[in-house]
Amino acid sequence: MKKFALRPAALVLFASMVLAAISAAQGIHPGAVWLDNRGQQIQAHGGGILHWHGKYYWFGEDRTRTNDPDKRYVACYSSKDLARWKFCGQVLALSDPERLGPHWVLERPKVFHNPHTGKFVLYFHLDDARYKFARVGVAVSSRIDGHYSYVRSFRPLGQESRDIGQFIDDDGSAYLIFESRPTGGFFIARLSEDYLDVDKQVSFIHAPLEGGALVHYKGLYYVLGSHMTGWAPNPGVYATAPSLSGPWTEFKNVAPPEARTYQAQSTMLLKVVGSKQTTVIFMGDIWKPRTLWDSRYLWMPVEIGDGSFLLPRPQPWSLNMKSGVATIH
Ligand code: DGJ
Repeated sequence: MKKFALRPAALVLFASMVLAAISAAQGIHPGAVWLDNRGQQIQAHGGGILHWHGKYYWFGEDRTRTNDPDKRYVACYSSKDLARWKFCGQVLALSDPERLGPHWVLERPKVFHNPHTGKFVLYFHLDDARYKFARVGVAVSSRIDGHYSYVRSFRPLGQESRDIGQFIDDDGSAYLIFESRPTGGFFIARLSEDYLDVDKQVSFIHAPLEGGALVHYKGLYYVLGSHMTGWAPNPGVYATAPSLSGPWTEFKNVAPPEARTYQAQSTMLLKVVGSKQTTVIFMGDIWKPRTLWDSRYLWMPVEIGDGSFLLPRPQPWSLNMKSGVATIH
């Protein structure tokens, strides 16, 4: 009889794929190592999600250790249940597009789909090592998980722009959230018709916050942000308004302040509308600045409604995609 010997590398790969399948079956585990379908740690830091043709696409900073150190990468993953993610590829592998020099920065990539042009438009924070360039970069693709080509960089509304967030309202209109340090606040701006620019300031919120995220839930807009402490966690805060243009309430903590957002920083609020319930998911990054590739994710369903927003203590949970009901394990 023929004998099969598994090589150690194949064995490790097989074991990590089994582990990925087991942990995915059990749902979402905030803070744990999150493996993709290949058994590799998901690289989608500072990311965003686009719901497209029944699937969720997660884009984020790919900080893989073996990446070319002169390039910056955006990875894409797809999923139907938000727990098991299939690697679709590195959709952007960019060489320093504006001659920003060593340690140039590409952070917080977010992808929009433009229904007028049919194109997918990738926005990201583009900067030099000292964060002085302060612009957004834009890249375009004709396929959601295809190769994105760099188009240009600019300062939205002529303002310095660092952390960015994305928001798509229930009517499909698309907005960029960006932090602008000289003004001591952040802007919500509507994208132009071709999505390659912003054409209108919708709101300026006078609060020096980054990690901006927005959700529209039961007639109220909730905006979320973190204080500016570099990679270190701090207490995340939120405000609400009846319209995107305000007026915005004072900011309140999303969790007990001493928990410092359970070590995470907001990157997006994802709304899943089911047959029984609408669940809003806080998506955050647990940064590990010395080993960014090993940064983790904190995703939790939030307690939201009537102007209040609470990020619960992280625990394993799962989401029934049909009913929209989240179950904490
Ligand atoms: C906080 C930002 O939110 C991150 O995206 C990153 O830019 C770090 N600052 C860098 O210190």
